Amino acid sequence: MKKITLAAICAILASSPLYAGERVGDFALIDHEGVFHHMAWYDDQQAIVLLPQANGGTDAQALAALADLRASYEAQGVTFLLINPGLDNDRDAVAAEAARLGIDLPVLMDDTQLVADMLGLRRLDEAVVYDPASFELLYRGEAGPALGQTLDQVLAGASVEMTVADTDGAEISFASLAAHGELTYEHDIAPIIAENCAECHRQGGIAPFAMDSKLAVKGWSPMIREVVLTKRMPPGQIDNKVGHKMRNEMNLADAEMQKLVAWIDAGANTQSETDPLTRLEWPETKWTLAEALGEPDLIVEIPEQTIPATGVVDYMNIPIDLGLTEDRWVRASEVAPGSPEVLHHIITTVIPPEGLRDPMEVISEAIDSLPEERAVAIRTEIFAAVAAGERPPIDRILREPGLDVSGLLVGGGDADQGSVAGYAPGNSFSLNPEGVGGLLKAGSRLNLQMHYTTSGKETTDATEIAIYFYDEGVIPAERMSGGVGNAFSIDIPAHAKDHEMQLVTYVPEEAEIYSLMPHMHFRGKRMDFTARYPDGSEEVLLSVPAYSFNWQLSHELETPLRVPAGTQIVASGAFDNSTQNEFNPDPNIDVHWGEQSWDEMFMGFYSWKNVEQTETGTD
Ligand code: HEC
Repeated sequence: MKKITLAAICAILASSPLYAGERVGDFALIDHEGVFHHMAWYDDQQAIVLLPQANGGTDAQALAALADLRASYEAQGVTFLLINPGLDNDRDAVAAEAARLGIDLPVLMDDTQLVADMLGLRRLDEAVVYDPASFELLYRGEAGPALGQTLDQVLAGASVEMTVADTDGAEISFASLAAHGELTYEHDIAPIIAENCAECHRQGGIAPFAMDSKLAVKGWSPMIREVVLTKRMPPGQIDNKVGHKMRNEMNLADAEMQKLVAWIDAGANTQSETDPLTRLEWPETKWTLAEALGEPDLIVEIPEQTIPATGVVDYMNIPIDLGLTEDRWVRASEVAPGSPEVLHHIITTVIPPEGLRDPMEVISEAIDSLPEERAVAIRTEIFAAVAAGERPPIDRILREPGLDVSGLLVGGGDADQGSVAGYAPGNSFSLNPEGVGGLLKAGSRLNLQMHYTTSGKETTDATEIAIYFYDEGVIPAERMSGGVGNAFSIDIPAHAKDHEMQLVTYVPEEAEIYSLMPHMHFRGKRMDFTARYPDGSEEVLLSVPAYSFNWQLSHELETPLRVPAGTQIVASGAFDNSTQNEFNPDPNIDVHWGEQSWDEMFMGFYSWKNVEQTETGTD
């Protein structure tokens, strides 16, 4: 008799035709304007109604009927969405079509067709009613009175039987999904896991379980399906349909998502000659950079920290003396977490032998170096605020064109000063291109701001930092520089679901942009970066549509982007201070700027390299 595992049963349930109150599962999609929609986030809504959209094929009657339903039900807590079932992947074209048809609803872009398939949508005039709390379908059929009846039942709190009513609209072609024929574990699935998951999900990796055999993959397959469909794993995903290509993009390709889910839905068959996952070999060394650079020149051991089993651990500031007796130029650095299950992040600051500079001093020097007229105007503004007992408008002043506050950055305004890698899961090293480096002067120290979280059992962490230097006597020709955008006035009202903010950072000289990194705390929801050029044109560089405090990645452009002097990097984002944000420690309070993770920050960290570098590296 064929043995049926729990995973297989779940997979069969998930893939079979849908019955009354059938659970289809949670999912997340990005709409045609780049907004992330996660169904679980909508669980304060009574129901979600979805209707297919297709360029040139949207069912006009169904759309009109949906508009009528929306007029009656939206105010009662029903959310209406359109979904393009992977028929048009060009968002601009969908936006143009939406404008033409007067559609003002988000159009979820189901490029993989996996969600439309999961919802059982087969025709363009079929609508579904979906319960975002139980992830169940309650209705599939015409957008009309019958759908309205289902909504009435939901709103009345009655128990709802799944209603299925056939429609006769145009059929949806699932050609893209069907293109993957017979999928095998050995040739199709194991390579995807090896490539995208195994580095973290292995013995000694940073994930809590290993996917190092077919048994493990099969056992985890229902969860794998869920994390893929909600875009939760791999972590740190970006919206890879906009902006520049990132070298360290974590996303699965559409075809990889299709293969994983289709294989799981078909029962996760693991019959195979060999098991590629058991044959994966991992380097002996703990240093990722060892492959490119060999073993490090200096290893800094951070004193062991014992982290209790439960509770909140205060941020620690740990000073480290690098023990450097001579000046050395840094090529690269890396953090190897001792116990990744408790180490949340490290922010590393290099303290030069002469110490850090006072930020107010840096700002006032920068103001002094502006043309006299503007400097006077700003000083007047500051004095007026102080005289009125108010806080000076530091944010606005920092946005003053041409104000050079690079002294506020790590490096204290010394263009030569190097930096040392910090740590966040998935973000553990910093590697300069050949010929680019920063200086660590003899006597330099590090300050490590370390944040630990508890894991359920007492854990000792012994983390190390590795530094790779240029050979003694070699001074790399170029320096990396960069900018930090930091909004100090943050006022997020209690319960705000999408409190928007924007932040502009100037690139003072012609430069090549290397990386972009959003930084917010628990209430951070999304952030994107646009380059605004001196000629007024704009270009999206990167969008992080579902920001997570747990996965703060520095996104590195595959090809550094050359921008003219005076380019602005505009960071636009939002906070979610509502109960819908599962990480929100308290939705009932207004939230302001602060260093603790229950306060907020709105920052962009950028690295760029100035094109003209004639005067550096001379001493
Ligand atoms: C950069 C490291 C990393 C990569 C790459 C990664 N994971 Fe994870 N994964 C984690 C960590 C850490 C957790 C623990 C939960 C968390 O921190 O979000 C996790 C949790 C999970 C879980 C459990 C879900 C849960 O609710 O905790 C599943 C399932 C999973 N990962 C699947 C995958 C799959 C499938 C891939 C590849 C397509 C993948 N992961 C890639 C680090 C990673």
